[in-house]
Amino acid sequence: MTTLTQPQTDLIAQLRDICGTANVLTHEEPAADLSPWEQDWRKRVHGLALAVVRPGNTAEVAAVVKACAAANTAIVPQGGNTGLVVGGVPDGSGTQIVLSMTRMNAVRAIDPANLTITVEAGCVLQNLQAAAEAAGFLFPLSLGAEGSCTIGGNLGTNAGGTQVVRYGNTRELCLGLEVVTAQGEIWHGLSGLRKDNTGYDLRNLMIGSEGTLGIITAATMKLYPQPAAQLTAWAAVPSMDAAVALLGLAHQRLGPGLTGFEVMNQFALGLVDKHYPQLRVPLWQATPWCVLIENSDSENEQHARSQFEALLEAAMDQGCVTDAVVAESLTQAKGLWHIRESITLAQAQEGLNIKHDISIPVSRIPDFVAETDALLAREVPGVRMVDFGHLGDGNLHYNVQAPEGVDEKAFLRDFEDPINTLVFNQVKRYDGSISAEHGVGELKVGKLPLYKDPTALAMMRAIKQTLDPQNILNPGRVLA
Ligand code: FAD
Ligand code: MLT
Ligand code: ZN
Repeated sequence: MTTLTQPQTDLIAQLRDICGTANVLTHEEPAADLSPWEQDWRKRVHGLALAVVRPGNTAEVAAVVKACAAANTAIVPQGGNTGLVVGGVPDGSGTQIVLSMTRMNAVRAIDPANLTITVEAGCVLQNLQAAAEAAGFLFPLSLGAEGSCTIGGNLGTNAGGTQVVRYGNTRELCLGLEVVTAQGEIWHGLSGLRKDNTGYDLRNLMIGSEGTLGIITAATMKLYPQPAAQLTAWAAVPSMDAAVALLGLAHQRLGPGLTGFEVMNQFALGLVDKHYPQLRVPLWQATPWCVLIENSDSENEQHARSQFEALLEAAMDQGCVTDAVVAESLTQAKGLWHIRESITLAQAQEGLNIKHDISIPVSRIPDFVAETDALLAREVPGVRMVDFGHLGDGNLHYNVQAPEGVDEKAFLRDFEDPINTLVFNQVKRYDGSISAEHGVGELKVGKLPLYKDPTALAMMRAIKQTLDPQNILNPGRVLA
């Protein structure tokens, strides 16, 4: 039970009028457990919300924002709460409301001729994929959290995932948005146009703004034809240099058929084997790296298989693959992908680590990894690297796990800041980015000014000040 001020009590009454009593949850009810909305997925932060508000339509979102603006109350937009940078949970002040978008989950329309689907922001990604498939199309965004993340959160973070090498990230899949501004106005931008040069690109400004510039209530997304056949291979590679060489060959041989190219180091796969032995990780014990390759073919399975076999043969001839398996069935392919997607969970089972989501030009990744691994080993002897990610996009999850037997909390307390500094300085030296796909959130907000171009940062601040002068949309995230 928390004690509210009179203006807070008045605001909650107003929010209940707008969304209905059942859709405004507070700590006033003694048994209320708001943890699912207050705690982030990695359990880095447990905030305290003034209320969790669950609007059912865009007009309600607009009315909620107007009421909060009048009461000068901060709003934290939230989708599936799977974000990894502490961007979608309230701070500990008990003064912010969480705007949970999950009731707004309808598929509004599919336009087969225009190859578009329009959905509400709270639509779970897997449901969006299923709606596209039921209509005979592919919606290619795919990530481990797809069973619970929402398209609003994907747009808010400009999520990447495992198909970016062919289809691009969420921004590239979006044609139009409906957004509620910080003043509670509705921007009706649900265009399905592929060409529109009538001024500044507000859609792309909203995408990746992590709930700090507007609340996305619906989106028009691109659809693609389903591939005629899809094959997956799992290859053992002797080094990161070999993995990059294999990527080059895969681009050459598969062309637009190359829809996934993921790399995983031995320690990451060892964690999956340790915590989920039933998944039967192939080839990992005899090689430092494994690669997962997906070939989506527009002709047929036979064509896909012969292309794949030719690729792997050439790769073995050149010494960049030492062993490989090609999935014989869709079930086997799904099994291989499931192993890849389980790394995040296996690391969580092992204990909290220092997570990095970096991008580097692909050509420079081998040198980056060799050099930075050595620097880290010098800084923390025995440190264990959980390296995996979307090599096809130059995006590595370059995570630093405590040495065996070292308490994770003590490790994070003593080493998180120096290790972040070491890794981010290396990223800068290699012309990379300190956040490839997860965003800035609260976790990296202190570091951003050190690594972002100062003129870019000044423009970002000016945009924030103009669109949200009261600073009520997700304050303290992206920009401090
Ligand atoms: P939330 O976590 O609820 O919110 C994320 C951010 O978006 C917050 O800043 C929030 O304020 C903002 N936001 C949410 N909804 C809206 C809205 N309607 N309007 C405006 N802002 C909004 N990410 C990747 O990019 N690639 C991956 O491969 C990937 N794999 C993952 C695997 C696992 C197992 C997990 C747990 C996470 C993974 N993620 C990945 C991170 C996460 O799933 C993505 O960032 C996802 O896009 C977040 O969606 P969400 O609905 O859960 O958003
Ligand atoms: C992934 O690629 O699996 C995700 O980005 C999640 C993670 O980094 O753990
Ligand atoms: Zn990722």
